[in-house]
Amino acid sequence: MTTFKKIFDYNQSWVSDKLQIEADYFEKLGQGQEPEILYIGCSDSRVTIEELTGAGPGEMFVHRNIANLVNNVDLNVMAVINYAVVHLKVKHVVVCGHYNCGGVKAAMQSLDLGILNPWLRNIRDVYRTHSAELNSIEDETKRYDRLVELNVQEQCINLVKTAAVQQAMKGRGLEVHGWVFDVRTGKLIDLNLDIHAILKKIMEIYKLD
Ligand code: CO
Repeated sequence: MTTFKKIFDYNQSWVSDKLQIEADYFEKLGQGQEPEILYIGCSDSRVTIEELTGAGPGEMFVHRNIANLVNNVDLNVMAVINYAVVHLKVKHVVVCGHYNCGGVKAAMQSLDLGILNPWLRNIRDVYRTHSAELNSIEDETKRYDRLVELNVQEQCINLVKTAAVQQAMKGRGLEVHGWVFDVRTGKLIDLNLDIHAILKKIMEIYKLD
């Protein structure tokens, strides 16, 4: 059980550790940020991306929501993408899903979840788009895992549908990556998505620049 005392005690020792290594660590941190990565991940408490990748303060611009969705009418994620890509000029955008994602699981069930319905419908749409492949997987865990991966892929496609990402990919070589974190093993998996092939395929319809 986490207590708030534990949190503040830890913070105090973290500050001392940092200062011991570099006396002006926080002075430098206060001067600004130049992260190279925009990370879009799930809000799930087990997917602590900085801890599991060793990314320190200033290295990643982070956005998290339920089931790592890039929804084109979500002003929050769209503002994050615009700010990170256009203003901070990050070099990479990562969408990271994770196995055993509660949001993805919920979208596989027939259940009225109130305000979560419109949010999870985005994942149901991913299922519908890929229903032939998903329905051919008999093992339920494997089907669930595959939906997690396909959801990451579709959110990467949603990224590429934005003008900011299209322009940065062409203009300065911005890269988009799809990852999955396996909470059962601790391993981070690169799905090695061919974003340029995806870009080419969807540009006929989604070209904005
Ligand atoms: Co999740």
